[in-house]
Amino acid sequence: MSDGRACFDREREAPVSRFPTVRMRRLRRTPALRRAFAETRLDPAGLVLPVFVKAGLDAPQPVASMPGVRQHTTASVVELAQEAVAAGVGGMILFGIPANKDAEGTTGWDPAGPVPTAARAVRDAVGDGLVLWADVCQCEYTDHGHCGPLDDRGTVINDAAVEAYVRDALTYAEAGVDLVAPSGMMDGQVAAIRGGLDGAGFEDVGIVAYAAKYASAFYGPFRDAAESTMAEGDRASHQMDPANRREAVRELDLDVAEGADALMVKPALPYLDVLADARARHDLPLAAYQVSGEYAMVAAAAARGWIDGAAAMRESVLSIRRAGADLVLTYAAIELARDSA
Ligand code: PBG
Repeated sequence: MSDGRACFDREREAPVSRFPTVRMRRLRRTPALRRAFAETRLDPAGLVLPVFVKAGLDAPQPVASMPGVRQHTTASVVELAQEAVAAGVGGMILFGIPANKDAEGTTGWDPAGPVPTAARAVRDAVGDGLVLWADVCQCEYTDHGHCGPLDDRGTVINDAAVEAYVRDALTYAEAGVDLVAPSGMMDGQVAAIRGGLDGAGFEDVGIVAYAAKYASAFYGPFRDAAESTMAEGDRASHQMDPANRREAVRELDLDVAEGADALMVKPALPYLDVLADARARHDLPLAAYQVSGEYAMVAAAAARGWIDGAAAMRESVLSIRRAGADLVLTYAAIELARDSA
């Protein structure tokens, strides 16, 4: 009885340890304890909603491969922004589908294009109620669906693509976005955009670099939503090889050196090791993109009753936060924000 565990020692024969069992369960006992001791939280301010705006639409159109996601008109994107603000969502990132495409993607920097138009309308409607981001890439604007103009062999020409990104970024800055997020994975894109913005007086517009963006099969549904499926080829000559982890360290370091204000890893859940490495190495804010395929898999399984969709989505985004992301881009931002309120 000297070990103080008499109440467990009614049967004399029962073995009694001299050492108390470590009680990991003590702090898991009630919802209040679990809430108090949670190491990671889903703050809606750190959620960013990706949004598709399409020129010439009369009404929002559902995206078949992404249940709950739509291509928006300028008017419906404003309503969505208001919903996001009401739910406490911290930001919105705009993607555009133009009325016309050509080999150079010249509608990417049209001030009357879908992204600048939506940016101005959202800013008018909600002011600084959310952080407004614009994705910068040419794949939605070229008729071949690649991230910039192509050479004779069908490979994206690095510097010509970067030049287009600078024009795009300036157009979006002019329309009032807070942040531009270059996603094309061309070399030198961050430095060029920083130089372009500063030269035009947009020193306050920030750059979130898609620093470690992989050539991923999980982008499939996005390409339906953004109408950016390639006529032929793939993006493996510029996006990263999924086999590579150390290479991501170099990509991240370069974007820091080029002047990025924040870094991004994409996709998110299949790349938590890359995210954890980025967190350990850099003090810059870190974002992760839970991409269309990650969203669609959960939605598809939930639709069949094979998984609890809301719980699985929550667990995925929490895991992405736990691995080191400060911000998470997710198509479920509004639903997640609502249920963490
Ligand atoms: C490029 C871009 C893509 C995504 C975000 N920016 C597609 C691609 O690289 O092919 C994918 C996002 C998603 O799958 O949700 N503009």
